[in-house]
Parts: sequence; structure tokens; C-alpha cells
Amino acid sequence: MAKIAVTDGMSDKATKLLESSGHSVTRKFIEEDDLLNGALAEFDAVIVRSATKLTKDVIEASKNGIKVIGRAGVGVDNIDIEHAGSLGIPVVNAPRASTQSVVELTIGHLLSSIRHIPRAHVGIREYKWEKKSMKGTELSGKNLGLIGFGRIAQGVASVARALGMVTHAYDPYLPPKIAKEHNTQLHKSVDDLFTMCTHITIHCNLTEETHHLVNKKRIESMPGKSPDGIVCGNHLVNCARGGIVNENDALEALENGNLSSVALDVFEVEPISEDNKLVQHPNFHGTPHIGAATLEAQDRVGTDIAKAVMMVLEGKDCPTTVNKSYLK
Ligand code: MLT
Repeated sequence: MAKIAVTDGMSDKATKLLESSGHSVTRKFIEEDDLLNGALAEFDAVIVRSATKLTKDVIEASKNGIKVIGRAGVGVDNIDIEHAGSLGIPVVNAPRASTQSVVELTIGHLLSSIRHIPRAHVGIREYKWEKKSMKGTELSGKNLGLIGFGRIAQGVASVARALGMVTHAYDPYLPPKIAKEHNTQLHKSVDDLFTMCTHITIHCNLTEETHHLVNKKRIESMPGKSPDGIVCGNHLVNCARGGIVNENDALEALENGNLSSVALDVFEVEPISEDNKLVQHPNFHGTPHIGAATLEAQDRVGTDIAKAVMMVLEGKDCPTTVNKSYLK
């Protein structure tokens, strides 16, 4: 029987799965100071989402107990996976469980942007009938540029194509045949995506390479006019990770008209602080990092991560291990 700490919440179904397999589960958020003082060392495994930061020092303080780290979700940027690996601790995640939910949120933001739904709603709440200023554009006939072309981007591309968009992608790690299978044109340079596409959605990890990948220069190169001749403006949606979009540049572009809309589910600083001016712009709308926050996704995430953690505890090799370096 293993002692498993779940620090950022997990579905009841997943907890029951762990318990019915003979493990004991403690569900509680642990403050950073306690983590640094080794609060996790009494557990065999820990399952986190994004709130708990498993830094090098936290992992070091936990190393006498923790044999596996589970990330109930996709992104592992809150975990020092290299350090865990160097201590022989595998980090496992649940990469497929939230795909559909993030796809749907991305499309939701895209549609909200081009039909001004958030701005129109604010007017309606104030009993204003602002019909004339709410003229939008269609997605059909427009070029969509997807940065990163993994599972989520592929899902977004397929819905976008069903709506009549032409899909382009930049993903230096993708075998070209995958883009072809999805009727998407793969570009070697991310700059080409910006010069061709009026609509950009982001689906990559935050790394040194992708930090501020969306910046003033690239935004300025967006065409603002679609191949069908419609002046639809330029639109940006990010439901991947904060920090890929330079938020100051995005605000400047909204102010000078280089961007017609910006929709973010993820931010450079989360939770957002009151000095974030971007969120006040009328053509900005946002959500508080809820890409995976659906009943269905959380159910699948919990079950997938519980199974992954148990595999490792049983001494098996888990296919969703993100730091194979632990084997060295
Ligand atoms: C993920 O990486 O799984 C999502 O961004 C959701 C989350 O961080 O909780």
C-alpha cells in the first residue's frame, strides 16, 4: 500500500480508484514553506495540477519518500522534471485527457472574438442595443495559423476546416506527413505563418524557444485581410501557456489596430494581477486557465493519472513518463 498526496484536487472517481487498489490518499493543498520543509517526504507519490510548484528544492526535500510524481494534466512547467529524473523519480502526466476540452475552448474563443460576443454581452447587460458596432466576420475562407501541431492543434484544425478555414501550421518537431494527413500546410518558418494568417491559435509548450514567440514584429507582419478580400483584421487566441504571447506587445497591437482581438485563457502571471492592463481593453476577452476544466476532462485526467501513478508504483514502465532521464 502506498501513501499518495493529492495537492491540487482530483476527481472523486480517481480517488476511489486509488483507494480500491489499496492505496491511502490524502487530499490537501500544501503551502510552499511546508513543501520546502519536506512535507511530501512522508508520501510515496504526489499528484499535482498546476498550483503546486515542485521546484528543485521541493523535490530535494521530498526525495526520501516520493517515488513518483503525477501531473494531473498536460503541462509540466510547474515541475523540475530534470531534477526529479536525476534523483530517479519518474514524472508522469495525462496528456490525452483534456484534448477535446481545450479544442472546444479554443474554438469558443475564436468565435467569440470574430462575432464580438463578450463585448456585445457587456452592452446587453447594460441594456444597450449596440447592433451597428457589432458587425463581425466569418471564419470561413480565412487562413488559420496554428503554432504547434500536436493533438489539440489537430483537433482545432479539423473543426476550423469544417467551418471553412484554411489551416496552416508551424511545428519544427512534426513529421510533415502528419500535417498532410490533416490537410494542413506545414511551414518551416513561424514568420511565414504570421505573414499568411489573419487568425493565429497557439498550441505549443512554453520553452526558452517559444517565450514571447508572439511579439510586436510578428504581429505587425499579419495581413489583416483574408484571401477572399475581406478586411477581417487580425485575431489571436492562446489556450496553451502564458508567456508565449508578449502581453505588452499584444496590448499595443490592440491599441494601434494591428490586432482586432486577443483572447487568452493563459497569462504571463497567473492568477492575473490588477496591473494587467491588457485585460481592460475592450477587444480583449479572457478566461482563467480553464482549458481542461470540464467534467469530462477532469474525470479522464483523474483516471489517467491514477492509473499512471499506480503503474510506476507497481514497478512498471509508464508510457506517459515525461522524464525518461530517471532511468539513467
Ligand atoms: C494542463 O496543462 O493540463 C492544463 O493547462 C490544465 C492545468 O494546468 O490544470
